[in-house]
Amino acid sequence: MTDNYGRIIDYMRISITDLCNLRCRYCMPAQGIHWLPMEDILTLEEITEICRQASKTGIRKIKITGGEPLVRRGCTELIGMLKTVPGIEQVTLTTNGVLLAQYAKELYEKGLDAVNVSLDTLDKDKYAEITGFDAFSKVMYGISEMEKYPVPLKINVVPHRGVNDNEWQQLTELARDHSLDVRFIEMMPIGLGQQFQPVSNMEILQKLQKYYGVLKPDTRVHGNGPAAYYHIPGFKGCVGFISAIHGKFCAQCNRIRLTSIGQLKPCLSYADSISVKEAVRNQQGDEVRRLIEQAILSKPCGHSFENPSAVTEMREMAKIGG
Ligand code: GTP
Ligand code: 5AD
Ligand code: SF4
Repeated sequence: MTDNYGRIIDYMRISITDLCNLRCRYCMPAQGIHWLPMEDILTLEEITEICRQASKTGIRKIKITGGEPLVRRGCTELIGMLKTVPGIEQVTLTTNGVLLAQYAKELYEKGLDAVNVSLDTLDKDKYAEITGFDAFSKVMYGISEMEKYPVPLKINVVPHRGVNDNEWQQLTELARDHSLDVRFIEMMPIGLGQQFQPVSNMEILQKLQKYYGVLKPDTRVHGNGPAAYYHIPGFKGCVGFISAIHGKFCAQCNRIRLTSIGQLKPCLSYADSISVKEAVRNQQGDEVRRLIEQAILSKPCGHSFENPSAVTEMREMAKIGG
């Protein structure tokens, strides 16, 4: 359906757990977070029922996120369940890749339509410094296992000043050597992200243009998100930019979010949410649909990252799903 700003909302991001097997410094404190109580977490059946109602409002694409979605038992089953919901055309996953090798085949068999893997550096030690775990080789192995299947793959890089912002060339060249897209994501001031100065994607694009020559925008559809893509001659994949800070894309927003405890979030930037947990637990399908419509109609026109005091979302990214 269309929201109050004329935007077609056809994409829902679902955080299926707030747990994670990494502690990325801009996402989760080293000691972890205040985990959500198990009984509050939606079951796989409840998530599927919410998607069934969401599809009646025009949701066509589902993104599974976390925390780390693959740490939740049943993640692959859920993907299979969502693929059977009438009206849902695509189910995709964003993962840190630590468990990808283990699940690659199953994800493919369940019909996963695309996978994004977070990888901020190609340096093993720096990886441990950023994520708190020595898991670089596992993630690289996970990517290589996933590459065996015809499932589109993208790499998510969040540059941070003085840590990985000098790796733009090596990271981009993953798209030269592999059939995948590499995307640079501007750090957003959500949760621990507030403590970092975002590196502007313009800066990275300019470095790439200086090194590879003028890049041609690639207008083919690469996913359902806000990234802008460019092609570099001789590369198998593309380089993309998600520029929430320096290239605000809210006018093209197509999404709502569902947290693992059943809160519908109209926008990443604000704490406002509408709970569907009661309605789905009481098997009130029509009410679930009405609440989804209400969430879509309460979408604000955009984020307020340029004015930090107006950002009301105080939770960690792991609870929201990025
Ligand atoms: P696909 O292109 O379909 O793979 O979707 P995507 O790029 O939205 O997926 P992904 O989960 O990889 O998200 C990449 C980054 O975009 C993350 O840092 C998200 O936090 C950010 N992002 C996703 N949706 C929004 C949004 O609505 N607003 C803002 N500001 N950032 C978003
Ligand atoms: N700003 C931008 N991206 C973030 N992510 C996590 N926290 C932030 C932040 N503050 C990214 C992760 C992952 C995606 C789901 O969100 O790196 O790739
Ligand atoms: Fe885990 Fe993702 Fe947060 Fe890193 S960014 S701690 S991988 S949820």
